[in-house]
Amino acid sequence: MVTQVAQKTDRFDGQIVLVTGGADGVGAACVKLFAEEGAQVLIGDIQAGKAKVLAEELGPEVSFLPLDVSDDSAWAAAIEQITADAGALNILVNNAGVSLPATVEDADFAHWRKVNSVNADGVFLGCHHAIPLIHRSGGGSIINISSALGLKTNAVMPAYSASKAAVRILTKSVALHCAEQGYAIRCNTVYPGSVRTPMIEKLSHDSGDYDAAMARRIAAHPIGFIAEPSDIANAVAFLASEEARFITGADLAVDGGLSL
Ligand SMILES: NC(=O)c1ccc[n+]([C@@H]2O[C@H](COP(=O)([O-])OP(=O)(O)OC[C@H]3O[C@@H](n4cnc5c(N)ncnc54)[C@H](O)[C@@H]3O)[C@@H](O)[C@H]2O)c1
Repeated sequence: MVTQVAQKTDRFDGQIVLVTGGADGVGAACVKLFAEEGAQVLIGDIQAGKAKVLAEELGPEVSFLPLDVSDDSAWAAAIEQITADAGALNILVNNAGVSLPATVEDADFAHWRKVNSVNADGVFLGCHHAIPLIHRSGGGSIINISSALGLKTNAVMPAYSASKAAVRILTKSVALHCAEQGYAIRCNTVYPGSVRTPMIEKLSHDSGDYDAAMARRIAAHPIGFIAEPSDIANAVAFLASEEARFITGADLAVDGGLSL
């Protein structure tokens, strides 16, 4: 399969970008794309080792910012550090997420809270802490990563689906708030289908039959294949760019038809 890669430009020259969960998978693809197109990129993640290797590989415009997105005070410290070091923030990609399968009977309250603390609380905290700095920086764009499972669920991911559905309506409220305040900040949601990342590799391995699990995944996508991380990064970059200047509060499914 050939992955279509957009022509590289200087769309994000001089922009400061924070990608949460940027050390691996979809987040790492976003970090790479923004850096290639001229941005200064911060990798906000809990995996210091992987984040530092990626930053080293991509050059001096990319750096690691330790950040657990479920931690309110860690967000406050991160925004303080960005203000001190870079003086501005233009684009925030709330991408960090965890995916733990368990039916409503098997999942206990700790499971529910763990999944929601990263996937839903993390996105709320990102918007809450970053909006004042993005506004002071002259405006920008927030992209929240949900999931096709935030639009259409199944029986084994109730906590994950609920956390991702929360992102949908939170995004719309944030978009309205920013517009009503006269902030030049747009906020949109991207809903990936299955993407070939460590998250999906682990879920497939944990199922006990990796090949069968991957085949089921591919068959579930009407388009006939699953995404590469760059497919999601291309959509994120579009929403972050001036080409999307009239788009706010929108739902962009990048899921090969999975949620239809
Ligand atoms: N891979 C898929 O098929 C798929 C499908 C739909 C949605 N998504 C969503 O896309 C996003 C990225 O998924 P992925 O597949 O790249 O995942 P991944 O597990 O491959 O990578 C996730 C990254 O987030 C980081 N992270 C986890 N918890 C964190 C925390 N508390 N604070 C900061 N960083 C944290 C991890 O260290 C890792 O670098 C997630 O929100 C996920 O739910 C993924």
